[in-house]
Amino acid sequence: MVDFALSKHEQELYETAMEFTHKYITPHARELEEANEFPLEIAQKAKEAGLMYLHLPKDIGGQGYTLLEETLIAEAIGYGDAGIATTLLANNLAFTPILLGATQEQLEKYMKPLVTDPKVKMGAFCLTERQAGSDAAAITTTAEKDGDEWIINGRKCFSTNGHVAAILSVFTTTDPSGGYKTMTCHMVPSDTPGVKIGIIENKMGQGASFQCSIEFTDVRVPADCLLGKIGDGFKIAMQTLDKTRAAIAAIGVGVAQRAVHEAAKFANHRRQFGQKISKFQGISFMLADMEARTMAARWATRYAAWLADQGIRNSKESSLAKVLATEAAMQNTTDCVQIMGGYGYLREYPAEQMMRGAKLLTIYEGTNEIQRVVASGLILKEAKEIDTGFRLKYDGKDAPDPWS
Ligand code: CAA
Repeated sequence: MVDFALSKHEQELYETAMEFTHKYITPHARELEEANEFPLEIAQKAKEAGLMYLHLPKDIGGQGYTLLEETLIAEAIGYGDAGIATTLLANNLAFTPILLGATQEQLEKYMKPLVTDPKVKMGAFCLTERQAGSDAAAITTTAEKDGDEWIINGRKCFSTNGHVAAILSVFTTTDPSGGYKTMTCHMVPSDTPGVKIGIIENKMGQGASFQCSIEFTDVRVPADCLLGKIGDGFKIAMQTLDKTRAAIAAIGVGVAQRAVHEAAKFANHRRQFGQKISKFQGISFMLADMEARTMAARWATRYAAWLADQGIRNSKESSLAKVLATEAAMQNTTDCVQIMGGYGYLREYPAEQMMRGAKLLTIYEGTNEIQRVVASGLILKEAKEIDTGFRLKYDGKDAPDPWS
């Protein structure tokens, strides 16, 4: 049976997150953006409200939420501000490789103290390097085994929350010429000697989210910091992104929905030529298109998350949900600015901040071009098994294969 309704628990979770957004995020989004301030207090409040460590198991202090539940929270927080949502959700990106690769013993030792600390603790995902962004398998940060320890050397960049993180999930290679098969993943406590935070990036939008470079110079970690086996790194990274791209899509849905609401409220109020501008079809049709994009993106996102919750690989669906939702966010915020005209362009109103924030959603956690690479690769593979029913007639008979 197909059921599109949220369960009572899911609905309550969404409403709790929305209340949190109205109380702590929306009123502060502008000031944090302008001040370029890290929203630590909001993260602390989110922890106290049960809106952090969403997918970590309950026995180590997490919430034990499904990915679908996580997307509901991401949507509500994204409605308030994409930058703050990025800060809060980046923990899930950092912790998913640990969840995928760690044993229960490793989780108890490294994650439980962090998650159960009364002060909110962050993690950071360290995959990207200057010459290895879309081409994640080209990383050169090395991990070398030395007795009971690993020695890590290299430099990562664009690491969200890296400057405050307590633990880093670091992707390395045991042989830089070996490609993705030698990629490995380690947990690195950030106070390990040799870990140095580099520059914090200065961005066009999402001022309340922070990305930095991190240097690793002869960083020694115990053998049990290895996640999974040597060579598991690439698959851990891809499986992580399959999940987290659905959460980024959900932030996009929240931004797209907020843009519809801000634009519609303005159109209901603003009068020109003796009537509300909502009476002009040029405006009302734009609003309908904005809502249509948001609806499509929301259901694609929830479906991608639901598949992962069923244990079904969702690479194509989560990539396409990210494309649909983040492009809906970009288009809707652009349209919102346009509907609001000169007011849309002013810093007193939220539309321009939303528009700048939306742009980053189409770039991080895999550019939308990479999402299309992932999806089209799988579409082409699936096509080999598909019979479309078309038969080419050749001399009155079916040709064996019309495409050969
Ligand atoms: N699940 C399981 N296995 C997977 C997989 C998945 N989702 N995706 C790929 N694999 C496996 C393949 O099956 C293959 O394994 P086998 O050889 O055993 O068959 C292996 O991994 C290699 O796969 P590909 O040949 O497809 O790899 P590729 O190198 O051609 O392409 C890519 C991969 C899709 C381009 C990938 O590199 C990618 O997603 N790049 C983007 C990385 C990215 O998103 N970076 C942003 C990180 S977030 C960040 O830095 C912070 C921030 O944004 C702020």
